[in-house]
Amino acid sequence: LYVSVSVMKKNIQRCAECGKKVASEKIVIIDNRPLCLACIYGQIKPFEIYPIGQVRNELKRNEGDFGLIGPKGISCIDIFPSQSRFMYKLEEEKFLTIVYYLHQTKSVKSVFKRGLDGKEVGVFASRTPHRLSKIGIQDVTLLKIEGTTLYVKGLDAINGSPVLDIKLKSSALD
Ligand SMILES: C[S@@+](CC[C@H](N)C(=O)[O-])C[C@H]1O[C@@H](n2cnc3c(N)ncnc32)[C@H](O)[C@@H]1O
Repeated sequence: LYVSVSVMKKNIQRCAECGKKVASEKIVIIDNRPLCLACIYGQIKPFEIYPIGQVRNELKRNEGDFGLIGPKGISCIDIFPSQSRFMYKLEEEKFLTIVYYLHQTKSVKSVFKRGLDGKEVGVFASRTPHRLSKIGIQDVTLLKIEGTTLYVKGLDAINGSPVLDIKLKSSALD
């Protein structure tokens, strides 16, 4: 009897700050250095956030210039059925703010030249997708709702981006 045992090797990286060997999922790349979450956050505990839906469009990331590849047209947001109870009278609104997860962000540069005007700034003075929180927000125009699918214009999230929340745009009632 031959028993084949396959041992899954965990992907381990060494933190550039404390020197400890850490599982890759507990490492973030900041300024091209692998840093462990313990060095970045210490005792701070992370939150658990569930997605409420997912973006469906033809947009992909353009790695080269932080931009997008694909037609900048209409995006669909497929809301999970359990969330439909929160959609009451949503179709009556025109301007919404979409909060989404920048799930394909892989590394962060703490200071860089922002795309808007070329000024050298830190992450918090920019709208860069390369941020530790991976939270993106975007104002959109709601075109229509079919079932639990929103059709929106102006969304800059790529296909498959998890949607965390939908809010009425803050100036919508001004
Ligand atoms: C400049 S960021 C702004 C994001 C959002 N509007 C904000 O202000 O928070 C927009 C860029 O993020 C990138 N992006 C979109 N969805 C993403 C995702 N799910 N993961 C990583 N990058 C994404 C695309 O390259 C897109 O052009």
